[in-house]
Amino acid sequence: MSFFQLAVLVASLLTASSHAAGVTGSPAGFASGTTGGGSAVAAAPSDIAELKLWLSDAEARVILIDKEFDFTGSGGMCTDCECCIPTSNACGSAGQNAIVNSLTWCDPYPKTTCTYDKTGQSGLEVASNKSIVGVGDGAVIRGQGLRFVNGNTNIIVQNVHITDINPQYIWGGDAIYMDDTDLIWLDHVKISLVGRQMISMGFNSNGRVTISNTEFDGQTSWSASCDGHHYWTILGLGLNDKVSFYNNWLHHTSGRSPDIGYPSTWHFFNNYWSNNTGHAFSVTADSSVLVEGNVFDDVKTTMEGEPAGVFVVNSTTSSACSTTLGRTCYENIVLNSGSLTPQSMANQTTLDALVSAKEPAVAISAATDVASYVVANAGIGKLGSSEQASGTSSVSPSASPTSSFTTSSATTLATKAAKTTSTFTSSATTLATKASKTSSLSMVTQVTSASTSTQTAAATATAAAEDDECEA
Ligand SMILES: *[C@@H]1O[C@H](CO)[C@@H](O)[C@H](O)[C@H]1NC(C)=O
Ligand SMILES: *[C@@H]1O[C@H](CO)[C@@H](O)[C@H](O)[C@H]1NC(C)=O
Ligand SMILES: *[C@@H]1O[C@H](CO)[C@@H](O)[C@H](O)[C@H]1NC(C)=O
Ligand SMILES: *[C@@H]1O[C@H](CO)[C@@H](O)[C@H](O)[C@H]1NC(C)=O
Repeated sequence: MSFFQLAVLVASLLTASSHAAGVTGSPAGFASGTTGGGSAVAAAPSDIAELKLWLSDAEARVILIDKEFDFTGSGGMCTDCECCIPTSNACGSAGQNAIVNSLTWCDPYPKTTCTYDKTGQSGLEVASNKSIVGVGDGAVIRGQGLRFVNGNTNIIVQNVHITDINPQYIWGGDAIYMDDTDLIWLDHVKISLVGRQMISMGFNSNGRVTISNTEFDGQTSWSASCDGHHYWTILGLGLNDKVSFYNNWLHHTSGRSPDIGYPSTWHFFNNYWSNNTGHAFSVTADSSVLVEGNVFDDVKTTMEGEPAGVFVVNSTTSSACSTTLGRTCYENIVLNSGSLTPQSMANQTTLDALVSAKEPAVAISAATDVASYVVANAGIGKLGSSEQASGTSSVSPSASPTSSFTTSSATTLATKAAKTTSTFTSSATTLATKASKTSSLSMVTQVTSASTSTQTAAATATAAAEDDECEA
């Protein structure tokens, strides 16, 4: 073999291995068809500047995260800036103070000074047609989250750990923020140590989303619930979002795991919740949430309050589910936890909405082996055989599609939020204004420029927010 032939061979092998380092598997459920950067040649950026450029430029890209990309401090620090001490922080340095921003959240609370990293407060904007793929078990984006906004679509994040975003501070930053996007697949992501939401969605539609094999690790030294558990986990406020959520592990959280409002359709199956000291589900508006084949272990409150659009599959309700969806529905397993059906949660409208939403095929298993499977497979460094092949059982394609969404006015939502807040002041919850729940600073602009009715709603809900505490 000549040197030239050898060089060609080596080059082709390198090319092949670059492709092989791309996305593993494909999403089941609503985000089926998401291709991210597709067949673009995979490449690793050299530093945070190049990563930021590649995330935001107009090229379809497969971006390899082959090491830790540390953004902390890169956007500057805010030294001796204004923070507040919410009532929830009765534990000093083991709790979370909040950064004062242009929202009114801090208004009722005493002020203090604090030093935080400005970088974390807004995420890195990701343009359309990107795959962001971790290599091995060391893929970390530190100090800044990712934003899917402004109509950008078709994005995959796989095998990446997002961490260390001002974890000391409420309003310190989100790990994943979505507002006006479509076709998002988060797979084998790990999220830990964030100040605000691990995932925040809304208010504009985020279209079709699949979240799978992801680890939500709530262990923290700065806990809004003052017990080493993270409160701000998943906030779903996107209008008409359709989310398939499976094989995820949510552990050591204490609230919003998830909190879902607004008309949207969510299918939670084969997930594992463990060690939650507050609430898992909080469903506060006209959502459609199907909960099946999951395991809840050591979850204080599995289902908070009086959710409306929820269907929980158990031995009593599984036949109604099967009849509507035209397939087997799977019961949940609840261990050492609060009741999953404190009220009736067999809303037929919810099932009908699932049918209308036409979730592409998913394979759902009995909950029996879910806990061990999820612990072994969720998070980073675990890519392999665990990708769900596009499905065996499907969510009833046969039933006739009818539009079952009704768009509530913002005023109605605010009224509900206010009502809910006053009803549940005794629980360790925060059910306040939806406007103040999302943490992206760009949201502030949106709220400000929103319609009169939204402003009215925000004002109404702000009154409710005065009860907004996260008590231990
Ligand atoms: C994304 O990829 C699709 C399919 O190749 C293409 O039609 C679209 O223009 C791309 N979007 C952007 C913003 O580049
Ligand atoms: C929850 O945490 C406690 C203390 O760390 C531990 O003993 C227990 O096994 C955990 N429960 C689950 C379901 O992981
Ligand atoms: C069922 O869900 C729909 C849609 O979320 C909601 O409007 C309705 O109030 C719910 N019904 C009950 C009895 O909870
Ligand atoms: C199943 O859920 C329904 C509806 O929420 C509830 O009324 C019923 O008591 C539950 N059955 C069991 C066995 O937990």
